[in-house]
Amino acid sequence: MDPSQVQIPPMKDLTVDNITENVITINSLCEDERMKYVLERLVTHLHDFARETRLSSTEWMTGLQFLTEVGQICTPVRQEFILLSDILGLSILVDSIDHPKPPGSTEGTVLGPFHTHDAEELPNGDAISHDPKGEPLLVVCTLRDTEGRPIEGAKIDIWETDSTGHYDVQYAGRETPDGRCVMRSDAEGIFWFKAITPVPYPIPHDGPVGKLLKKLHRHPYRPSHMHFMFEKEGYDHLITALYLRNDPYETSDAVFGVKDSLVVDLAKVSPEMAAKYNVPEGQALLTYDFVLVSDEETRELRATNSKIALDKLGRKVKIVNGLPVPDLD
Ligand code: BEZ
Ligand code: FE
Repeated sequence: MDPSQVQIPPMKDLTVDNITENVITINSLCEDERMKYVLERLVTHLHDFARETRLSSTEWMTGLQFLTEVGQICTPVRQEFILLSDILGLSILVDSIDHPKPPGSTEGTVLGPFHTHDAEELPNGDAISHDPKGEPLLVVCTLRDTEGRPIEGAKIDIWETDSTGHYDVQYAGRETPDGRCVMRSDAEGIFWFKAITPVPYPIPHDGPVGKLLKKLHRHPYRPSHMHFMFEKEGYDHLITALYLRNDPYETSDAVFGVKDSLVVDLAKVSPEMAAKYNVPEGQALLTYDFVLVSDEETRELRATNSKIALDKLGRKVKIVNGLPVPDLD
């Protein structure tokens, strides 16, 4: 781009009241319509935030210093910015907007930092956890589409902590993955495995996000849960988790991941199931029927939801690929 060819809109006499429209005007040179829209809304909300809170210079600098610390603690395996997004409720909000779910399908939840790509692929029925102190749990699930048809051969990542509330990657000497696996649904959409009953645990809170939680008088705990991630061509990628009912943190999850439809009651293995799955009768049992949404249904729902949300806000926009952009026609 030759800078001498770009027509910069003139700006002068910038004031508290006209700075926003000036920043938006100069940013509107951007040719990417979606980026232009996102920047316009970001600058508008950011400036309104400063005007509304009467943000002091000291507070502005404290905020910047905090973000600097968040950046400084990040490494390839520690993403403090995502953690910050998690504890502010932004991660779950974005997931819920971008992966809309029709009634009856399985809702998504936060991914968290403990998914890895080195989990072993295990056959149905295998054990995913080798923690002798964990309470044995039989997990039997089905996977279907929104019409109730079984989905065969989906790649399913499953991960959970050990009985002390630590993921395998949180141990310095980790040599092989544990408490995790990749599994495939069979022709009837069934997948099942042996695990341990999940326990509550704190999110990493030894950094700036932990300090912020403390200052806010918030605890860092997540309620007991097991993570599931589903991938199958033609279906919207689903990142979710199941939460145990009556966990002490069920209604105060540090990262807002709990949704009613994902809360489960554990049962006990019946004599018939004990024989069928070769586990002791009376052992804890988790059953769940997961439902994936097709890519096409997701695209349509995303566009419909965008239109409804933007109409409600009274914004004159176009919806392109399910997302709002400025309407210049
Ligand atoms: C987790 O469930 O693994 C998790 C989610 C968000 C932040 C930290 C941990
Ligand atoms: Fe987790």
